[in-house]
Amino acid sequence: MRIVIVGSGKMGRAVAALAEGRGHTVQAIVASAENQGGRALTAERLEGVDVAVEFTRPEAAARNVARLIEAGVPTVSGTTGWEAELPVAAELVRRCSGALLHGANFSVGVHLFLRAARELGRELAGRSGFDAFILEEHHAAKRDAPSGTARVLQERLREVDRSRAFPITSLRAGATPGTHVVSYDGQFERIELSHLARSREGFAAGALAAAEWLPGHPGVHRFEDMLFGGPG
Ligand SMILES: NC(=O)c1ccc[n+]([C@@H]2O[C@H](COP(=O)([O-])OP(=O)(O)OC[C@H]3O[C@@H](n4cnc5c(N)ncnc54)[C@H](OP(=O)(O)O)[C@@H]3O)[C@@H](O)[C@H]2O)c1
Repeated sequence: MRIVIVGSGKMGRAVAALAEGRGHTVQAIVASAENQGGRALTAERLEGVDVAVEFTRPEAAARNVARLIEAGVPTVSGTTGWEAELPVAAELVRRCSGALLHGANFSVGVHLFLRAARELGRELAGRSGFDAFILEEHHAAKRDAPSGTARVLQERLREVDRSRAFPITSLRAGATPGTHVVSYDGQFERIELSHLARSREGFAAGALAAAEWLPGHPGVHRFEDMLFGGPG
């Protein structure tokens, strides 16, 4: 496949390296200096491209995605923090008969963790004596807090247990790619479920799997729809 990567940061570079290792052609890595407002994402520049993978910043993602969809390029976006603008992007995808796959977390393990957390939440729903909360930890350069994954985790837990708020505490420090923990803390014991991402390659592999899947699948998809064939 011919792939364009939008964003030359940590994730963009990790996806590019993996894509080349798997025999794909990285046609371009579009960096921010040349792409203010998405201006580098022109039809000429995107000619012959099978799929785009976008990992930039919350304030840039919606514009990049719009330009890519208008150019007819199936687009995988892993940028977090722009969820509020998704309905507008979805409408554009519909009008252009385009294809968009987005996700706050492209790790397969995280989606299995979310499912396991929901089961745990179900078991503990309505049982008193436990205070429930979420902790998430990411490297110091991560811009958004709480993480998109922590918010999804909170949503899933609230769906199965309306009696608890599941407050989120975020830590931004050091270099860790990402840790999420849900804790049920009681007077005598604590139940904890956690996911630790060891490196960015797990996210990059998920993004690449999504890029390989997306062409030929019009519409708006979440990463977990691709993984589990429906809402995760
Ligand atoms: N879905 C997942 O699994 C997953 C995993 C990890 C990270 N993420 C998310 O992915 C995003 C990127 O993460 P990262 O770790 O790669 O961050 P990063 O290292 O800070 O890289 C972001 C890059 O995007 C560039 N950029 C900003 N605006 C742009 C534009 N209009 N066009 C092209 N490039 C632009 C930035 O350039 P400048 O520095 O010059 O502004 C920077 O190089 C974040 O939102 C992060 O939360 C998602």
